[in-house]
Amino acid sequence: MPTFIVLLGPPGVGKGTQARILSETNKLAHISSGDLFRENIKNQTELGKQVKAILDKGELVPDDLTISMIRDRLTKPDCVTGAILDGFPRTPAQANALETMLAEFGGEVNAVPYISAAESILVERASGRWTCKAQGHIYHEKFNPPQQAGVCDIDGSEIYQREDDKVETVSKRIRVYLDQTMPLVEHYRKAGKLIEIDGTKPVEEVTKDLLAALNK
Ligand code: AP5
Ligand code: MG
Repeated sequence: MPTFIVLLGPPGVGKGTQARILSETNKLAHISSGDLFRENIKNQTELGKQVKAILDKGELVPDDLTISMIRDRLTKPDCVTGAILDGFPRTPAQANALETMLAEFGGEVNAVPYISAAESILVERASGRWTCKAQGHIYHEKFNPPQQAGVCDIDGSEIYQREDDKVETVSKRIRVYLDQTMPLVEHYRKAGKLIEIDGTKPVEEVTKDLLAALNK
């Protein structure tokens, strides 16, 4: 049976950072809806053109577009053993669609780590974040700086600051999260799948807590 892990948590809490580590440790595909949208924007696809303004404003892309993009990604060969979903689902409709899709693939959502931290921490993390242009590797100017300023340690590409990481847009994304995504915390708690993780700790400690909880 494939394993599907949904990483839940507010903007900037560290979902992408942890998803990359977990996907390597647990040999699961890493599916980040935000990365997929940014990839489409970079490549100027039809989808990219449709969603660019929405991402820049910090709003959510409509469910139908998001769900069909994820459905397509889940059919790729690297998802046969399962995947870590980072940033999807983000609304109750997306959570329902995910259940239906995974059932088609003979799987289900196995665990939902919910990483949380206070808003001041989220803003500090997102506004200091630098992202690699080629593959989305994640840095922070204070907590995880690259060895050479402006250059990704892993693939040597340029690193940039995301358009939606301006302080006002981060605050907007947090409001949107509280409004539209928080209901999923209770949804997965009721289903007995929620695992609460303290996201205020350093990266390595959060990873340790995640691995311990997932291997229980
Ligand atoms: P998305 O890209 O998913 O953004 P997000 O959910 O707002 O989350 P972030 O990527 O900002 O944060 P993260 O939790 O991944 O943190 P990271 O590891 O980078 O979505 C962007 C947009 O796409 C949305 O606004 C929406 O428009 C659209 N979208 C995406 N999914 C959608 C969906 N399902 N439906 C509709 N629309 C959707 O870490 C942040 C920083 O902190 C980094 O600098 C990192 O180095 C640092 N850091 C991480 N962990 C720690 C730690 N423990 N201690 C210190 N620093 C840390
Ligand atoms: Mg992310």
